[in-house]
Amino acid sequence: MKDISDFTRRDFLSLSAALTGGAGLVFTSTPFVASFKPSARALALGSPIEVDISKVEPGAMIKVEWRGRAVMVLHRTEEMLTKLSIVDSLLADPDSQQSEQPTYVDSNHRSIKPEILVVEAVCTHLGCVPIPRFDVGPSDLGSEWPGGFYCPCHGSKFDLAGRVYSGVPAPTNLKVPPYSFIDNNILVVGSEEGLV
Ligand code: FES
Repeated sequence: MKDISDFTRRDFLSLSAALTGGAGLVFTSTPFVASFKPSARALALGSPIEVDISKVEPGAMIKVEWRGRAVMVLHRTEEMLTKLSIVDSLLADPDSQQSEQPTYVDSNHRSIKPEILVVEAVCTHLGCVPIPRFDVGPSDLGSEWPGGFYCPCHGSKFDLAGRVYSGVPAPTNLKVPPYSFIDNNILVVGSEEGLV
């Protein structure tokens, strides 16, 4: 015959397990729900940002942060622009048919104004940060290297328009974010409401 004290102990243990599970659910679900509430900082990070490019000389590049990601703004020289067509045959997607970019940028030089390139500094392979390598013919990239961007993680190469070379791990060109200009000196990353 069942001992009433055993029964009570077993029930107590079952109840404890249920409560513990319930408490676990509360503790795990609360941060989950909370994660859907964007913080003020997150909202701020999603807002368009104005960038003064008046002091970015031809050949120079700056980095800005938009939505928590680095965005590279390169002022291309005439010589840099000339190099774009030279490497076309070496690229995986020279006309940016498979790559993410707004419809209003030119498919080849990938920008609104030819001289101002705006691309995200996020490699399309696994998300490392490509570094600018504007030096021509360096020993580590070969004498044919005309300048561009290089991802140090697995060796992906991109040209001076962020277009990816064939035969590297990255599948597509660097992404061009939405952007526009308020005037000749002020670029707005994240908004298409200015002059495009
Ligand atoms: S993350 Fe850039 S090559 Fe792999």
